[in-house]
Amino acid sequence: MNLQDKNILLGVTGGIAAYKTLELTRLLRKAGANVWPVMTKSAGEFITPLSLSTLAGNPANSSLFNDRGSISHIDLADRADLIVIAPATANIIGKAASGIADDLLSTLVMAANSPVLIAPAMNDRMYDNPIVAKNIEKLATLGYLFVGPGVGELACGYEGRGRLAPVDEIFEAIEDALSPKDLEGEKILITAGATRENIDPVRYLTNGSSGAMGYAIAREAKRRGAHVVLISGSSTTKPPYGITHLRVESAEDMSRAVERSYADSTCIIMAAAVSDYRPSETSPEKIKKADGPPSIELLPTTDILKGLGEKKEKRLLVGFALETSDLIENAKRKLEEKKLDLVIANEPTAIANEKNRVAIISPHGEVEETEELDKREIAKKIVDRVAELVKKNTKYKITPLLT
Ligand code: CTP
Repeated sequence: MNLQDKNILLGVTGGIAAYKTLELTRLLRKAGANVWPVMTKSAGEFITPLSLSTLAGNPANSSLFNDRGSISHIDLADRADLIVIAPATANIIGKAASGIADDLLSTLVMAANSPVLIAPAMNDRMYDNPIVAKNIEKLATLGYLFVGPGVGELACGYEGRGRLAPVDEIFEAIEDALSPKDLEGEKILITAGATRENIDPVRYLTNGSSGAMGYAIAREAKRRGAHVVLISGSSTTKPPYGITHLRVESAEDMSRAVERSYADSTCIIMAAAVSDYRPSETSPEKIKKADGPPSIELLPTTDILKGLGEKKEKRLLVGFALETSDLIENAKRKLEEKKLDLVIANEPTAIANEKNRVAIISPHGEVEETEELDKREIAKKIVDRVAELVKKNTKYKITPLLT
């Protein structure tokens, strides 16, 4: 998501976590957004309007009326692409849920015609209070968006749920809220990461995949409104929030996990680096050096994607092709053999690299070659193509089976 020139009205209420909003403001500005801060009176007890307005590059408003005589809440509400309240106390949540507009921020929330994203932060007992829970439920039903709260040490010294969501999660939720929802209603199954085939309790066959490409696709698809199930082998990447994340180890584990989930999916994207072979047996004991060099017999694993191609019915199927030579030719062959709707061809430099360069190939022979880009940018291009297919082609919409 590109935040360039987006107008974000950033509401700050009175909580100890208000200092984290300064970092959020900095990140939003860095991403090119215009930040319009609004503070409640009690927010001023925790951070100063000067620090917030300096970082935002816009005045931190707190009064319902400004000295030019125009009503600033209408100005601000009209300007906003998104209203974010971080941290949001039980008080502002209660006011929003009850339609109370008695200061600038609560009035803006009432006057909003943009989405409102709320990042609650409060004491755990307040958060667990059924009145607060009902208020959150009511707002969520009305379409208000929420991020967090997280679990951890609270300012009152207790451990519990109520901590402001981490700033990077709030930032991600802002990007989500501002993204087009062109995959709404789609159920996308994505695989990522490297599988691990055990030789003995301490040794295994694997590859260097970090999972970053598949995770970035999962994040982008979720952002665009899809319901995402991510089945991942070994990966060092943090899973995006708001998706179903399953961990597996071997190619056979991944195959079984895909088998359980694919029927319910409208689209499957196999980004995992699946091992083609596994040892015919796993030694229960560590293989000892003194026994001499072992010879390890290998057996083929299940080709998960090929199997899906055989029974894809109306599902959209996207695969990857990793090639050291004849990139496009080899990828086209995999597209055909595995009955894919798109294949993403890439080279080994993609492995464990934050950047990638790919060719996106369709069955009609169209080849879209990208330059070297951050994997999040590549994920966006892939998901754009998936969304185009979804829009053009309703053939794979799944009618639930009655059996
Ligand atoms: N794949 C799979 N199951 C396997 C091996 C690969 O589902 N056992 C999937 C990968 O996730 C990828 C696609 O098949 O989407 C192509 O994987 P790749 O490793 O490029 O090719 P292979 O089919 O393994 O063929 P080769 O190793 O001969 O290039």
